[in-house]
Amino acid sequence: MPHALDPATREALAERLRFYRDLGLSDFYRRPVEDAPEPARSLPPRAGQLEAEQAEPRRPSSEPALQGRAPLAIQSNFFGEEPTTRARKGFTAPPQIAPSLPAEERAAALEVIREDLGDCTRCALHKGRNTIVFGVGNPAARLMFVGEGPGADEDAQGLPFVGRAGQLLNNMIAAMGLMREECYIANVVKCRPPGNRTPEPEEANTCSPFLFRQIDVVRPQVLVALGATAATYLLGQRQPLAGLRGRIHAFRGTSLVVTYHPAFLLRDPRQKKEAWADLQIAMKELGLKKAGT
Ligand code: URA
Repeated sequence: MPHALDPATREALAERLRFYRDLGLSDFYRRPVEDAPEPARSLPPRAGQLEAEQAEPRRPSSEPALQGRAPLAIQSNFFGEEPTTRARKGFTAPPQIAPSLPAEERAAALEVIREDLGDCTRCALHKGRNTIVFGVGNPAARLMFVGEGPGADEDAQGLPFVGRAGQLLNNMIAAMGLMREECYIANVVKCRPPGNRTPEPEEANTCSPFLFRQIDVVRPQVLVALGATAATYLLGQRQPLAGLRGRIHAFRGTSLVVTYHPAFLLRDPRQKKEAWADLQIAMKELGLKKAGT
């Protein structure tokens, strides 16, 4: 007698199988990947996101001190100093490594950050938000993910990555052999940008100090930047993702791995294999084995 699965469970399982297939992890499906239909787009593409994933640096600098560094609008946020001043001095912000907190104190420390954030009106994004999406997960997680900013579902629920991109992120986490609850998940900005546009530098620079404090508290062993916006504001430099993926960056006492944003992967599922290669770098760093090895 066949098992009766409710439609939502069946669809979640089917989605997971599709995800594993796209990663090349199994041959559950006999059809070649190229023949597979693209999933329907229910999320509008974020303005500029696709371009940001693939864009060349906007302004390659001729100043040696600025080679490969961020355009001036991007702060590293460590010093609260006006960024152009630092850039003109040719000063590069060193990574700030806070002493790590005992695991049992981290939940309370995150609560302090949440209280400091308050009913934030520090940037214009507060005008359009319903809920501040602070972050969720294990305060002592070994693995942390950072996305760009809340979308409509996240804004409604107050939780990061709960929409379609979140479903894909859950599948990525499951493919790593972990549960979402074991990880910590946050975004560069904590309020939904109107129309899901990319956060403006002023918004991201205003909000990201709170993210840095969260990272310093959780102190994950591995931090995964999901997409160009996360990579840009974590590393403090704008570069094409291609130049940042495939290796580990030392960042605030953690190993930072850069990969594609799940929303981008929903639009271009062929890139899932590349994302899986990035996640395997993270897994190696965490001492996790690929399923079946
Ligand atoms: N995209 C993001 O970058 N973050 C979320 O929380 C959801 C979608």
